[in-house]
Amino acid sequence: MFPKPELDYRSDAPLYRQLYEQIRDFVRSGRLEAGEKLPPTRNLAGMLGLNRTTVSAAYALLESEGLISGHVGRGSFVTGAPTAPCPALDWEQLLSGGPAVPAPPEPPPERAISFGASRPSAALFPLEAFRASCEEVLRGADLPGILQLGSPGGYPPLQRYLLDEAHRAGLARPGDDLLVTSGCQQALDLIQRVLIRPGDTVALEDPVFPGLRNLFLRAGAHVTGIPVGAEGLEVAELERVLATQPVRLLVASSNFQNPTGATLPQAARRAILRLAMAAGAVVVENDIYGELRYRGEAAPQMKRMDESGDAVLVGSFSKITFPGLRVGWLIGPRALVGRLTEAKQWTDLHSDQLAQAVLLRFAESGRLEEHRRRVRAAGLERLEAVLEACRIHLPAGAAYIRPEGGMNLWVRLPEPLDAAELLPRAQREGVSYVPGRHFEVSRRHRGSLRLCFASLEPEEIRAGVAALGRVFSEELERARGLERRAPVPAMV
Ligand SMILES: Cc1ncc(COP(=O)(O)O)c(C=O)c1O
Repeated sequence: MFPKPELDYRSDAPLYRQLYEQIRDFVRSGRLEAGEKLPPTRNLAGMLGLNRTTVSAAYALLESEGLISGHVGRGSFVTGAPTAPCPALDWEQLLSGGPAVPAPPEPPPERAISFGASRPSAALFPLEAFRASCEEVLRGADLPGILQLGSPGGYPPLQRYLLDEAHRAGLARPGDDLLVTSGCQQALDLIQRVLIRPGDTVALEDPVFPGLRNLFLRAGAHVTGIPVGAEGLEVAELERVLATQPVRLLVASSNFQNPTGATLPQAARRAILRLAMAAGAVVVENDIYGELRYRGEAAPQMKRMDESGDAVLVGSFSKITFPGLRVGWLIGPRALVGRLTEAKQWTDLHSDQLAQAVLLRFAESGRLEEHRRRVRAAGLERLEAVLEACRIHLPAGAAYIRPEGGMNLWVRLPEPLDAAELLPRAQREGVSYVPGRHFEVSRRHRGSLRLCFASLEPEEIRAGVAALGRVFSEELERARGLERRAPVPAMV
C-alpha cells in the first residue's frame, strides 16, 4: 500500500522537493518495496491537491536517482534503494574490551584416559530407573502444568521437597527460602548479579573451580584467592585478608573442594563463619560434592552452624546424579532469595520443569537413595584405586591431598616440573588431566594438576596413573640431569 505523503503547504521548501524526499525515504526505509507500483501522477496529484506537473517533477527526480523506473503505458515502479554495500561487522572489535577471563582448557583428544572433567561416570547412570521416573511423570495428571510456563522459583513440588529436606537436615531456618536453579553454576551467577558491583572484592579458594572464578571476573569484581591446604581454606590467611580489605562475599566449599578434594574440619567451618560475618562479608557455602562421602564422618555444613541465618548454601543434583539435567538450588534468607528469584526471571523465566519433575519422582520413589549407595560404593573403589596408583607410580617428591570423597585428587609434582608443559607428552601416552594453572586465583599452581577419578573405571585409573608416573619420572630425571650438567660459576 502506498503510504500517504505528509506535505507542509506553508513551508518554503518546494512541494515537488518535499514529495520527492518523502517517497525517497519510504523506499530507503523499506515502507515501499522493490516492485511496488506508484500511483499514477494524476491520482497522486488529486490525492494531495497538487498540480500534476509537481508530481511528475518529483517522479523525475526519483527516477534520475534510480529509485523508481517509469514504463510507458504501465506506470512507475519502485526499483529499490541503491544500497551502498554495508560494511561487515568488526566482531573482533565488538568482542574486545571487558574484564579478561582466562580461556578454558583444551578438550582432551578422543580415546585418551581422561582425568579431565569433574563429572560422574555415565556408565553408572541408572538408565532403567531414570526411564521409569520419566514414564511416571509423563503419565501423571500434572503433565499439562509441567509443560506450561511455571514459577521462577522452581517447579513447586520440587521446591517444597528440597526445602522440607533442608529443614529436616537443619540446613534451613524459618527465615530461609529456596530457589531452584539451572545447576549450581546458575545459583552462583545469580548471587553475583544481585550482590556484586564492579570493583567489589570477592574472596575465593585458591586454587578454585574456574567456572566460579570466571563469573566473578566477568562481573568486574576484584577476586582475591585464599590458599587451600589439606584441611581446606586456610583460616589464618582468610583472617589476614579480611583485616586488610573490605570483602563483600566469600565462597567456600565445605566438602571435597574442586580441585583439591580438601574438606574443612568443623573448627575451621566455625572460624570461617565467625570471621566473615564479623567482617560483614556474605558467606556462600558451595556443597556440591557433599553427598559424595566415601569414608569418614561428615561435619555439619556451615549453613547448619550459622546462628545468624545469613549464610547461603548452594547445592546441585549434578554430581550425585545427572549433570545434563541442570538442576541445582540455593537456600538463603528470604529477602535475598526474593531478589535472586527476580534476577532469575530476567535471565530465563524459570528452569526446565520436566527435568525437575523427573528428578523429584526419582527422589520420591527411593531410586535416588539406591543410586546414591551405588555411586558411593563405586566412588570408594575409584578413590582407593587412584590413591594406591599414585603411591606406586608417582615420582618421589610428588605430594597429594588424600580426600575422603568427591571426584578430584590434587597432585603437586616435584620441582621443577610444570604440569602444563608435560600435558602434551602425557596425551601422547593416551592420558589427559587439567594442569594447575587453570585453577589459579592469586597464586601460581604450575607444578600441580587435577586428576578427576570419578568417571573412570578402577583399571583405567591404574593404567592412567602408571602412564603419568612414567612421563613425570622420565621428565624429572631429564630435568635433574640438565641441572647437574649446568656450568658451575667460578668461586670468587
Ligand atoms: C565447585 C563447583 N561448583 C559449581 C559447579 C557447577 O555445577 P552445576 O553442574 O550444578 O552447575 C561445579 C561443576 O563442576 C563445581 O565443581
